[in-house]
Amino acid sequence: MSANLIVIPTYNEKENISQLIEAIKKEKVPADVLVVDDNSPDGTGKIAQRISQKEKWVYVLHRQEKEGLGRAYVAGFKWGMERGYTKLISMDADFSHPPEALKRLISLCDSHTISIGSRYIKGGKIVGWKWSRYLNSWGGNLVARLLLQVKVKDITAGFKCYPVNFLKKINLDKIQAAGYAFQVEMPHLAQEAGFKLVETPITFLDRKMGESKIHGELPKSAKLVFLLAIQKKSYRQFIKFCVVGAIGTVVDWGIFYPANFFLLRGFSQVNIQAIRQISKGISFIVSATVNYVLNRKWTFRSREKAIAQQAGKFFLVALGGLAINQIFFYLATGILLWRNIFGLILGTAAATLWNFFVNKKWTFKN
Ligand code: GDD
Ligand code: MN
Repeated sequence: MSANLIVIPTYNEKENISQLIEAIKKEKVPADVLVVDDNSPDGTGKIAQRISQKEKWVYVLHRQEKEGLGRAYVAGFKWGMERGYTKLISMDADFSHPPEALKRLISLCDSHTISIGSRYIKGGKIVGWKWSRYLNSWGGNLVARLLLQVKVKDITAGFKCYPVNFLKKINLDKIQAAGYAFQVEMPHLAQEAGFKLVETPITFLDRKMGESKIHGELPKSAKLVFLLAIQKKSYRQFIKFCVVGAIGTVVDWGIFYPANFFLLRGFSQVNIQAIRQISKGISFIVSATVNYVLNRKWTFRSREKAIAQQAGKFFLVALGGLAINQIFFYLATGILLWRNIFGLILGTAAATLWNFFVNKKWTFKN
């Protein structure tokens, strides 16, 4: 038994599977093979079964129904984990993933690194795809990378090597993708779990035999990528930050009116505008304090001990936000001659972004 296991999901791959196993054998790859077949109507499972009787390093996992690429990989990986394999490789059955690259892929993978056979880095390429399929893949890659901020060029790649401790850490039962989005969810989880991702170039050949099963998977996968994005910690934090900001605004106004009212009654001899400014100052301090506390406890869950210093930073950032709000409001209404409401929206948006990022990176760092 080898320490490495190549997991090959199959659905109607009778023209490919024996040749592929043959090619892996020829390459003398230091790995066993597990074919995960979803009861292919064309008999792929039986063919693989027959091969496994001769080749003791080849195994087959038969599943009752076609449940999708992601589910097949989860089942295959669990099978391998139960048997003590330390590196698990994902590979298509149709020769799109070059068997010659297996050794390189495996050697780049270690206990804290996932290696990826990449089409979109220098030296990698795709041969044989129609332009429409190419466009789909390229666009999907771009959107997924932007939404999830995963630092790889080929985020939808299917040719990868995972160390077993990564698979243990993420809990395969929590994988949300049943189908092709699995290929995006895994590098996303890897990055969130602090594992390294390295890419090595491959030439992806379109299949010569059989058919792709990706047809109709796009909407489902896009939806899942979007779901993963809004579950991301940084997006959740941003939404919380906006909620806190809205509460702060309500507090701000709720303090301003009564403060102004009572100050006017108490100090009627003083300049009305001066009193207004003082009321505004008071409401700013109160609402900023409320915001600070809520953001510390809820948005960023900070446990920093130097509270006075942290609160001071928060106030400074808020003052900066105020200035930015004014500047953008002036730009919009004074220079671009927009209507007030659009000036307010632009100013608030700019200030919110400033406040969020500076507080995240500075005030609530750690
Ligand atoms: N067991 C099982 N169950 N296997 C499946 C299923 C399923 O539901 N769906 C697909 N497969 C198998 C196929 O038989 C093949 O071996 C492999 O998964 C890849 O499927 P293809 O249908 O050949 O995918 P593709 O060539 O269109 O897509 C490739 O490129 C994508 C990125 O552009 C794959 O490498 C994808 O993983 C990759 O995301
Ligand atoms: Mn394919």
